[in-house]
Amino acid sequence: MNEFKPLVFSGVQPTGNLHLGNYLGAIRKFVALQESHDCIYCVVDMHALTAQLVHDDLKEQTRSIAAAYIAAGIDAKKHIVFNQSQVSGHAELAWVFNCVARIGWMNRMTQFKDKAGKDAEKASLGLYAYPSLMASDILLYRATHVPVGDDQKQHLELTRDIAQKFNLDFAEKIRAVGKGVDIKVGDEPVHAYFPMVEPLIDGPAPRVMSLRDGTKKMSKSDPSDLSRINLMDDEDSIAKKVKKAKTDPDGLPSEVAGLAGRPEADNLVGIYAALSDKTKADILKEFGGQQFSAFKPALSELALTVLSPITSEMRRLMNDPGYIDDVLRDGASRARARADVTMREVRDIVGFLY
Ligand code: TRP
Repeated sequence: MNEFKPLVFSGVQPTGNLHLGNYLGAIRKFVALQESHDCIYCVVDMHALTAQLVHDDLKEQTRSIAAAYIAAGIDAKKHIVFNQSQVSGHAELAWVFNCVARIGWMNRMTQFKDKAGKDAEKASLGLYAYPSLMASDILLYRATHVPVGDDQKQHLELTRDIAQKFNLDFAEKIRAVGKGVDIKVGDEPVHAYFPMVEPLIDGPAPRVMSLRDGTKKMSKSDPSDLSRINLMDDEDSIAKKVKKAKTDPDGLPSEVAGLAGRPEADNLVGIYAALSDKTKADILKEFGGQQFSAFKPALSELALTVLSPITSEMRRLMNDPGYIDDVLRDGASRARARADVTMREVRDIVGFLY
């Protein structure tokens, strides 16, 4: 049985500042995966229009995500780093997927419901179709593995549903074109054109929570800047935010079980563990019994040690926008070469003359 070639694809939307949660939850995973996989990392600027139509500085935001990728250690020569809108296949395949996906599937997307809020009638059609464009991002390269945060799990399930329906509905055409792969979905043999993508959700990265409320995710849309550590924060702000981070009155427990029901303590220990590549148990062995007044300075020092080489490299890159644009253009041309192969085959399968 032949298999799809393993390929990692992921994307980050260029809206708002990158923060520690994006770094630990996504970008650091992207960096690690380059050792074992062929990887494509995208700045999804077309998705950015779904949140807000007119941006003051979308180009600048796109550059800053690209700069973060590069500064964090993604090798844009060995792998591919580019912005979505430079490869028209994303939009073209998304159209086909809009015709594959069912309204009922889209209506189940919890992220749409959250983002559209009470007055969903006023949400854009783009926001509604967001997951279909995301499926197209991934499947345009027939990628097999997608590192994302667990809030994106439902979108990956939709991606699999779209791939599955495409594979089944077009089964005969896929056979005729001769570009399919025999895979098993559960126990069922399927002649597939698109792979069933696997989410890469776990790993060392924790879910990084808000510094003001350990039950909410760290988020760029939280109105309080104290809730997050931004990648571009200077030393003083990092120290201040960690110092002001919410905690409970108790000290640190010596066992992980002692973090139960203490979301803020759990979050800070989790962040320390992730930044130092250790387990929470290791950290509690070291700090168990101590007060947060002792732990917090150690945490902000560690955060600085890990982040400052990245932020200073990001700043350096941001001062050379021409260089970033060249990297993205080069990545886009390599991405386009692959995307064109898929789009030609998709046209053949669907029946578009070319
Ligand atoms: N929806 C993703 C997020 O908000 C961003 C994204 C768009 C993405 N296209 C993608 C992630 C494709 C992985 C693969 O995090």
